[in-house]
Amino acid sequence: MTEADLLSKMDGCVVVLGTGGTIAGRASRPDDLSGYVAGQVAVADLVRDIPALASGLFEVEQVAQVDSKDMDLVVWQALVARVAHHLARPEVVGVVVTHGTDTLEETAYLLQSVLKPRKPVVLTCAMRPATALVPDGPQNLSDAVLLARRAGAKGVVAVCAAKVHSAFDVVKAHTYQVDAFDSGDAGPIGVVEHGQVRLFRAWPAFADTADRETGVFDASSVKRFLKATRLPRVEIVLSHAAADGLMVRCLLDHGLNQSPAPLQGIVVAGTGNGTIHRSLLSALEDAMAAGVRVVRSTRCARGWVSTDPTGIPDSDGLPPLKARLALMLNLLPG
Ligand code: SIN
Repeated sequence: MTEADLLSKMDGCVVVLGTGGTIAGRASRPDDLSGYVAGQVAVADLVRDIPALASGLFEVEQVAQVDSKDMDLVVWQALVARVAHHLARPEVVGVVVTHGTDTLEETAYLLQSVLKPRKPVVLTCAMRPATALVPDGPQNLSDAVLLARRAGAKGVVAVCAAKVHSAFDVVKAHTYQVDAFDSGDAGPIGVVEHGQVRLFRAWPAFADTADRETGVFDASSVKRFLKATRLPRVEIVLSHAAADGLMVRCLLDHGLNQSPAPLQGIVVAGTGNGTIHRSLLSALEDAMAAGVRVVRSTRCARGWVSTDPTGIPDSDGLPPLKARLALMLNLLPG
């Protein structure tokens, strides 16, 4: 990073968008780390006293105020629209999004897939509410701002407990520990140490990030996503011992003609290398014969699924939740 890069990044503006989550959670007592309500504190209050913000231009905007377990298309569309708006502003060097931890990996993957941004979009979060005796949110937010200002940064990443995760790999791996996220076999793309970013590998990118309209994100993909009136219905089923395919048969009986969102896809979280109990497989073959798109992922926390003789396409390394999003985005009307 040259001195000029550093100066231009400091002169540029970071926009912090709030969506809720535990980082904005409030409890009645500082020692209550579980009985709090997520999405209570305004993002304008969260950014107060963050030293990384004091040393550069920044703006804040409250896009939503939700517990991320309740994430939906309306909030996602609002977020995509606001991130796109700010990324297109030449003076904005990066966007930070405060988000609940529970569906952070889904929003990260969605933002990366839809926007394919050439500037950094940094999601951050907290496992302890803002009212905790020792909250983790302020440090995470400070690290996120540092990343958003980092010269050369691009794509969607998440930072939590000083680890920087790519949108492709990040998963929530722990129910309550502060270091709750993992990037599987790939590992984090870097760490934040002593106020510096140490990178282990490249920023997330798609092969085709070229954009004719904005040069900063994929405008046609954003338009397509913002036009959607509903998400295509893609359900996840799990293969396990003594599976009998009933879930899939129920989906076929009740979902195929479900209005306004008929069943269009199923992601199967298979055993091991994406293998599927023979009774479930037979139900999935019926689903494919009925025109439902089926994708094979794995219930294992680590590893890719290779091709197998079932003829069911694999998820290209994506875990079930992200494979579902990839299929939903693929099924959106053009
Ligand atoms: C949420 O996901 O909004 C609540 C849980 C959390 O942020 O840790």
